[in-house]
Amino acid sequence: QPGQRYEAESAPAVCDGTIDTNHAGYSGSGFCNGGNAVGAAAQFTVIPAAAGTATVGIRFANGGDARPANVIVNGTTVATVSFEPTGSWSAWSTKSVPVSLNAGSNTIRIAPTAAAGLPNVDALDI
Ligand code: GCU
Repeated sequence: QPGQRYEAESAPAVCDGTIDTNHAGYSGSGFCNGGNAVGAAAQFTVIPAAAGTATVGIRFANGGDARPANVIVNGTTVATVSFEPTGSWSAWSTKSVPVSLNAGSNTIRIAPTAAAGLPNVDALDI
């Protein structure tokens, strides 16, 4: 069955920063430019087709240096992702992370661990 895309700019997603449109190639109507600070997160609420292991694709762009972030599912940190440079702020890439999801609503919070904050985050695919 086809996957589901959750846009960072669309509620119930939360962006601890601004929704921007100044770098081409994003999907939907914008992307999350998180604040340049530890913990300034992009948060998604997802409803999987079924409970169990799913691969989550985080679509991002990073015109700077690597920007590590924790992936926090329903309050538990399950992975740390490096979000390496993509070459420019308009070059988008996808990082895949296996996660375990419950039936129904789940929160997936992407929270940076360094002062530069997140890369720009466009969307999350399941
Ligand atoms: C630039 C870029 C932003 C990005 C920011 C950052 O200002 O235009 O889109 O979010 O750098 O370093 O976080």
